Amino acid sequence: MTTEAYHPGLEGVIAGETAISTIEGGLQYRGYSIADLAEHSTFLEVAYLLLHGKLPSEEELADFLAIYSESAEVDDSIIEFLRQIPLHVGAMDVLRTGISAISHFDPQLDDDSEGGNIAKAVRMLAQIPILIAARYRMTLGMDLIEPDPDLSFAANILYMITGKCPSEQRERAMDVSLILYAEHEFNASTFTARVVTSTQSDIYSAIVAAVGALKGPLHGGANERVMEVLEEVGSPDNAEDWIRDALAKKRRIMGFGHRVYKTGDPRAVILKRYCGELAEKTRNLELEKMADVIEGIVVEEKGLPPNLDWPSARLYHYLGLDVELYTPLFVASRVSGWAAHAIEQTANNRLIRPRSRYTGPTGQRFLPISGR
Ligand SMILES: CC(C)(COP(=O)(O)OP(=O)(O)OC[C@H]1O[C@@H](n2cnc3c(N)ncnc32)[C@H](O)[C@@H]1OP(=O)(O)O)[C@@H](O)C(=O)NCCC(=O)NCCS
Repeated sequence: MTTEAYHPGLEGVIAGETAISTIEGGLQYRGYSIADLAEHSTFLEVAYLLLHGKLPSEEELADFLAIYSESAEVDDSIIEFLRQIPLHVGAMDVLRTGISAISHFDPQLDDDSEGGNIAKAVRMLAQIPILIAARYRMTLGMDLIEPDPDLSFAANILYMITGKCPSEQRERAMDVSLILYAEHEFNASTFTARVVTSTQSDIYSAIVAAVGALKGPLHGGANERVMEVLEEVGSPDNAEDWIRDALAKKRRIMGFGHRVYKTGDPRAVILKRYCGELAEKTRNLELEKMADVIEGIVVEEKGLPPNLDWPSARLYHYLGLDVELYTPLFVASRVSGWAAHAIEQTANNRLIRPRSRYTGPTGQRFLPISGR
């Protein structure tokens, strides 16, 4: 029998070591503050930082971009297979299947060296946006759009989904959201990826499992639910009544609260600025006003600050993106953090196998089936 402390949901438990990111003293990736990265960096530079442990030189970034561009192609048979999946199947389920399918075409599937895993991570970074955009457009009966090698990661995603090259402002807003979504230490999906990796399984299996964990509304799925809530509220005039009623009914308000940030999510603060700017440009100031009313009341009544999903849902809406794309876009970014964790776990592995506290009966007398 174990006498160790039990923490439901592993709250507050240090479940492993990492040099990839910390939330202590403000969120930092590899020691760089998220505010600096959001202000001065690009998503692919951040992905390089996470995967390689250092910021790239100009030459290293150029090499990384070249490998990324070369990998930006998904086998035709996979695209054809995605077409066979019934239309009612959700985008996250299809993406989970699509990532599993691209693993079958990866020549380095069983190479779990650091170089092999980085190469596979770059392939996933390049191919996941293609899977997301392809499935989205095929469900609407639209022609698929190939990635444009001259566009940035953020611009390419928007281009492949919408068919339009985004303005600089839209591209930057998308890029910052991807930077902010890229990594967040031992959240549920990352921990899932590390558990799978700890059994010496392959990096694709770890990422596919992580996608499954991210899909849930308490984790990545929250950004889609946020938009559904805003649609339900409808107008700024209705916001106060709606939120007071929802709180009185003990409804869980998506986009608020966080397991580890109890006084505020720094990512939400950063993204709110981009949200405001884009709302003005796209004439969505009413929606910003409505969100402000809700935010003020949830903070005042419940002491729950917004998390990143609160502004990101609006930002994606202002970018003209449909709700079902929101959590897949989170995957397109977070795959960089998940892969960095799989690589770190492989480099210093010990099987993750905790204990449980047993609450069932003991000492039951076995009765043969005929006597039950
Ligand atoms: C993220 C989350 C799961 C973390 O929660 P947690 O640390 O497990 O905290 P709990 O679920 O135990 O909640 C603690 C209390 O705060 C309340 N609470 C937490 N988040 C809430 C929310 N978004 N809306 C209303 N109440 C909330 C709970 O009802 C509970 O109240 P109680 O003690 O009166 O029962 C939770 O805040 C949540 O569900 N948020 C909404 C989903 C979301 O935005 N997820 C994205 C996270 S980045």
